[in-house]
Amino acid sequence: VNGQIEIPVVVNVLYSSSAENISLAQIQSQIDVLNQDFNGQNTDFNQVPTTFSGAKANVGISFVLETVNRKSTRKTSWGTRDTMKNAKRGGIDATSPDTKLNLWVCTIGGGILGYAQFPGGSPSTDGVVIDSRYFGTTGTATYPFNKGRTATHEVGHWLNLRHIWGDTTCGNDQVNDTPSHNTANYGCPSYPHYSTCSGSPIEMTMNYMDYTDDACMYMFSNGQKDRMLATFAPGGPRSSFAQ
Ligand code: ARG
Ligand code: ZN
Ligand code: CA
Repeated sequence: VNGQIEIPVVVNVLYSSSAENISLAQIQSQIDVLNQDFNGQNTDFNQVPTTFSGAKANVGISFVLETVNRKSTRKTSWGTRDTMKNAKRGGIDATSPDTKLNLWVCTIGGGILGYAQFPGGSPSTDGVVIDSRYFGTTGTATYPFNKGRTATHEVGHWLNLRHIWGDTTCGNDQVNDTPSHNTANYGCPSYPHYSTCSGSPIEMTMNYMDYTDDACMYMFSNGQKDRMLATFAPGGPRSSFAQ
C-alpha cells in the first residue's frame, strides 16, 4: 500500500431526543479528530515521551465525511448486539460497507463508550458504534471522553488492532514495538508507569489502544501502523478500501 489511504465515512445517527440528534458540527469534529490522530497531527502528539519517540507513528489514513443519515426512534438504549445496524429492527442499514466506513451514533447503555467489528466479519454489521456522548469534541461530548478518542480507539479495532494489554494479564497484542502491559490502564497514569510483566518495561499508557481518558491517549506505534495497513494490502480483509 503506497501513500495515503482515504476512507469515505457514513455516519448513521439514531435519536430518541434532540440531544441525541447531534449536530453536523459535532460529527465534523469527530472526523477532524480521526484525521489528526491517524496522521500524527494531534496537538498532543509532541507529549509522547522520548522513550517512545522512535515508535510513534504517522499512520497515513484520512477520513472523508460523505453522508449523514438520521433516524428518529423510540429506543433509548441499543446495547451491543448490532440492532442499530438493521433497519428491520429499527436501526439503519450499513451503506456500502466494503468501500465505506459506517459509524453508528446512538445511546449504547451499560457504560459502553463504543464498540467495533474486527476485519473479516459480516459486511452487514461492519463498522463502529459510538455513544453520542463520547463522539467528537463539541455539542454533547462529555468529559473525560470528549476528545474523540473513542472513535480513534474503535477504528483501531476496525483495522485489526487488539488492546495493548492483549486482553489478559501481560497478554500479547501481536505488535512488537508496544510493551507488555499488566492490564488495562484507566484515568491518566503518571509517567513512567512500570509494568510488572517480564522485563518490567515502561508501559505505553498514552497509546490509543489502552483504556485511559481521552486527554491521556495520543499515539499509535509503528508496529500498530503496519498491522493496520496490512488490512488494505492485496488479499487483506480491507483491500476493497484501497485506492
Ligand atoms: N470499547 C471501549 C469502551 O467502551 C472504548 C474505550 C475508549 N477509551 C477512551 N478513552 N475513549 O470502554
Ligand atoms: Zn477496545
Ligand atoms: Ca506488544
